[in-house]
Amino acid sequence: MMSAIEHTRRYYQSKIAALGPTPAGVDWGSAQAQVTRFDQLLKLIPQTAWAMRSSFNDLGCGYGALLERMTSCGINVDYLGIDLVPDMVEAARQRFAGLGEFEVGRGCSRLADYSVASGLFNVCHETPQAEWESFIVEVLDDLNSHSLRGFAFNCLTSYSDPEKMRPGLYYGNPLWFFDLCKRKYAKNVALLHDYGLYDFTIIFESAASERG
Ligand SMILES: C[S@@+](CC[C@H](N)C(=O)[O-])C[C@H]1O[C@@H](n2cnc3c(N)ncnc32)[C@H](O)[C@@H]1O
Repeated sequence: MMSAIEHTRRYYQSKIAALGPTPAGVDWGSAQAQVTRFDQLLKLIPQTAWAMRSSFNDLGCGYGALLERMTSCGINVDYLGIDLVPDMVEAARQRFAGLGEFEVGRGCSRLADYSVASGLFNVCHETPQAEWESFIVEVLDDLNSHSLRGFAFNCLTSYSDPEKMRPGLYYGNPLWFFDLCKRKYAKNVALLHDYGLYDFTIIFESAASERG
């Protein structure tokens, strides 16, 4: 049987092959929805640090659209994008040569100030819930152990309208994730569920940078 990660790789490979380096090619409904998600994740970086060229891991970077958003907002980072799919990484390198580094992988390869994961947990295919949630926790462990100041991720929400929910997608319970994250990773955890999409974002301040 195909592993969850192999399913994921093939799924996104087929998306970029069919739709190119576009929001649809990384499975977002629109460019606006993609940017709205980015803007939640970027609340991770305090504005006072925008010019500091903090190091930043973008796990599951796709074709690198987050780097474009950061640049247009004036957030200057030492950026590393990592993605499972070689064609995503190649597209990102072509678009953003000189602005950031990109590599093929399934986890963070360096310690950075900040890390994010946008859209990694949405498409679970037929993977049983418990198995998919263990996969998510593995990714969160990886983000936690490679982030000095904090990390953030998003996930589709179990509070979506039932008639809009589709098979093969994972809808996480934000309360379960908040509780997990609060107990396992950090004292300072923010749950954002107020930006008009059928998902939520969780932001952590890592233990090392917590005050008091
Ligand atoms: C929904 S797309 C989002 C891409 C990008 N973050 C964005 O928002 O434009 C998810 C991406 O994560 C990648 N991906 C999924 N699981 C991954 C993992 N465990 N490690 C690295 N990349 C992963 C996929 O190949 C895909 O390009």
